[in-house]
Amino acid sequence: MKIIKTKNYNEMSENAVNILINEISKKPDLVLGLPTGKTPRKFYKKLSKLCKKNKVDFSKIKTFNLDEYYPISKSDKKSFVYYMFKNFFNKININKSNISLLNGDFKDYKKECENYELKIKKSPIDLQFLGIGINGHIAFNEPGSDKNSKTRLTNLTKETIKKNSNLFNRKRFPKKGLTMGIKTIFSAKKIVLLASGKHKSKAIASMINGKISKGCPASFLRNHKNTIIILDKKAASLLDR
Ligand code: GLP
Repeated sequence: MKIIKTKNYNEMSENAVNILINEISKKPDLVLGLPTGKTPRKFYKKLSKLCKKNKVDFSKIKTFNLDEYYPISKSDKKSFVYYMFKNFFNKININKSNISLLNGDFKDYKKECENYELKIKKSPIDLQFLGIGINGHIAFNEPGSDKNSKTRLTNLTKETIKKNSNLFNRKRFPKKGLTMGIKTIFSAKKIVLLASGKHKSKAIASMINGKISKGCPASFLRNHKNTIIILDKKAASLLDR
């Protein structure tokens, strides 16, 4: 596990952008795993700007998103599909048929998860970007998730619902999610986890220095052979120098 400590959120995002651009230059048809949340916003913004200036080409790139609320309609502003198109896909030259997202609107969620796994098997993920929850979750793999878990329906913890529903009506907020499993995430050739802010420092410390266990799903990443963690100063504040 390689750890990159940066000054601030901007520099964290810049580092992530540079890693992606370097990988695309080596493999223009890269298969990319993508997160949502506040953390990758600037990363997406910077990439969108560079794409507008023709400095990066997404025309051959395939993407898989990590997770989605369940149940949720595609037009719902809370949905990750809405987030991805608004913040990224509508701003870059990606071929829309190369985009894969878990459908939170599909009744047969088991079939949806099975199909997603099959699709990933056919186009294995080269580079997976990740955020981390304050309780150490990755995607919607909440504490208690098994290291062999695959794409599935999960129950969200109270703290995740509380944090993610910030701008919305908490009572009507989805209590479940569809998520790639830990094993699915692990199948990526390279993983890059981003974290910014003091509120992430505890989760980062237990991911890096704590026990590798279900209690902190992100800690399983220590067993992945090609993982980079990019932190800003505040997220790294509980780590030893
Ligand atoms: C959410 C998502 C995760 C994301 C995490 C952190 O629950 N399911 O994929 O990485 O929370 O979000 P944020 O970047 O907003 O802190």
